[in-house]
Amino acid sequence: MKLIYLAAPFTMSVLALPRDRGEWMPPQGDAVRGPCPMLNTLANHGYLPRNGKGISRDVAIEVLDTVINWDVSVVGPLYDFAQPVNPAPNATTIDLDQLTTHNILEHDGSLSRQDAFFGPADVFHEETWNETLSYFTTPNINVAQAARARTARIVTAASTNPSFTLPQIGAYFDYGETAAYQFVFGTWNLGADNIKDKISTSLEMVEYFFRYERLPSEKGWVRPINRLTYEVLVNFVLENQALTQGQMNGTIPY
Ligand code: HEM
Ligand SMILES: [Mg+2]
Repeated sequence: MKLIYLAAPFTMSVLALPRDRGEWMPPQGDAVRGPCPMLNTLANHGYLPRNGKGISRDVAIEVLDTVINWDVSVVGPLYDFAQPVNPAPNATTIDLDQLTTHNILEHDGSLSRQDAFFGPADVFHEETWNETLSYFTTPNINVAQAARARTARIVTAASTNPSFTLPQIGAYFDYGETAAYQFVFGTWNLGADNIKDKISTSLEMVEYFFRYERLPSEKGWVRPINRLTYEVLVNFVLENQALTQGQMNGTIPY
């Protein structure tokens, strides 16, 4: 027990965390950003390195826990899936722009980015985002609207991009990404009978987050009180896959 106490400060001190955490600043100089609006946001706030470079597994785990209450059981595997984007042998860090490598995790049919075939797949793209927005017809987005928006982007991409691909991992992550913004900006009611009522998400916050890559604190956002674990994420994704199938074959009328 004593040994654990002694080891703790040393474990903490090896995390190279920026000192000016919290304040939002746009990327400067040689800073890099990528296709993930949340990792970009966290770099813009200085929770992740402001230059977007050299993000280690430990830093990702610490930051996502501290800022958005995500458990290591989610962030650990997520980071491990992403690590191959760094081409250096035995790399132990990631730069945000490396995440743009097509079809490792970056995939076609994104909510706010173009497919790589049409243009840069890392930066916010107004026209693409407008298609997603067209499904959010109420001040609070319900789970069914979010699912329809996700499907629509995939269908549009598949029918317009002659080189459209969606590897299995991309398809799974795509559900995870739609779940992710709801988990972070929504009010959870996971015990609700109807899947569409399990999370209610402020459209204003989501719009602000995607567009400015900034935490919507001025719109009232605070760190989620519910902790996202792997079990919660997987169950929600599975339910969303069933919902999507039902929406597509007409057995679910919303
Ligand atoms: C280690 C952690 C993470 C990694 C490695 C990661 C990686 C990625 C990558 C590679 C993409 C691009 C996929 C695409 O082509 O759309 C992406 C998109 C996305 N990520 Fe992350 N991400 C992480 C954490 C998070 C967190 C915590 C959130 C919480 C909101 C999040 C939300 C999103 C969303 C909403 C998208 C979809 C963007 C769009 O479709 O336009 N990510 N992420
Ligand atoms: Mg993409």
